[in-house]
Amino acid sequence: MGEMLKVAIACDHGGFALKKTLMPFIAELGYTTVDMGCMSEESVDYPDIAFPIAEAVAKGEFYRGIVVCGTGIGVSICANKVKGIRCALCGDVVSARLTREHNDSNMLALGGRIIGTELAKEIVKTWLSTEFAGGRHARRIEKISKYEG
Ligand code: RB5
Repeated sequence: MGEMLKVAIACDHGGFALKKTLMPFIAELGYTTVDMGCMSEESVDYPDIAFPIAEAVAKGEFYRGIVVCGTGIGVSICANKVKGIRCALCGDVVSARLTREHNDSNMLALGGRIIGTELAKEIVKTWLSTEFAGGRHARRIEKISKYEG
């Protein structure tokens, strides 16, 4: 189902280890992964990482985007400043499913220093494979888009 779909992934130094673990896992799920940095555990500022990937996702260059920092909070704050982005910070699988069904989130944020590897994989798998439920939720997404202008 995910064949040929491109998923962008980016991190700061706090999310580097988890990103490296997730990239082959996402590829195994059938997606093409595109690494948008950073490329080492050297300290970087998360806005420099989060804005470019969020802009690329907003432009439709990728099916979805995943951002990882120490807590997931900094990158999610940045991503959600970009028009058209609905970035969900998830630390559990139920939230990962519900943010797809209810919020049609197009980006996922993870805390590399907060959650374990196996939980992160389950969150990513669920988030990538769950469809938007539409209906009343679509009306709410339209209100967000209208607010954004
Ligand atoms: C970096 O030390 C850390 O502040 C960053 O990864 C993230 O947790 C910010 O929200």
